Amino acid sequence: MPSTIFILNGPNLNMLGTREPEIYGSGTLADIEARCRSRAEALGVKVDFRQSNIEGELVGWIQDARTSAGGIIINAAAYTHTSVALLDALNACDMPIVEVHLSNIHQRESFRHKSYIARAADGMICGLGSLGYELALEAVAKRLDEGN
Ligand code: DQA
Repeated sequence: MPSTIFILNGPNLNMLGTREPEIYGSGTLADIEARCRSRAEALGVKVDFRQSNIEGELVGWIQDARTSAGGIIINAAAYTHTSVALLDALNACDMPIVEVHLSNIHQRESFRHKSYIARAADGMICGLGSLGYELALEAVAKRLDEGN
């Protein structure tokens, strides 16, 4: 089982830092990546950190994870609330999957309360900002270590 964990980020997350800072904070996606890399090193796992604004590209990366990754952490951003394609791709992955959101989607507009991809995830962390990514890494690394 490869120990690389894919960390996949969806649309508009490349704009973190300047995008709605009152909701998402002032940190950039590069800051989140740096935090993930340092936490991954401490946990003894590798991370492959990616972002795309294109749904089909995210689907392709999830398909690649079947052979190249041991687990997936995904912040699908707006596609969380719309994408059966991402759900289907994740359902085809037999590995630990954790869904992450920076904001607490349940405190926001009602259309954000529904996550299509939650059905495929082992767990979801939302509302804790970039700490959520680090906690997700810890959870996936523990599952990999325990062999499930
Ligand atoms: C988000 C929440 C989504 O509703 C939104 O579309 C995003 C970011 C979050 O990380 O809080 O783009 O996934």
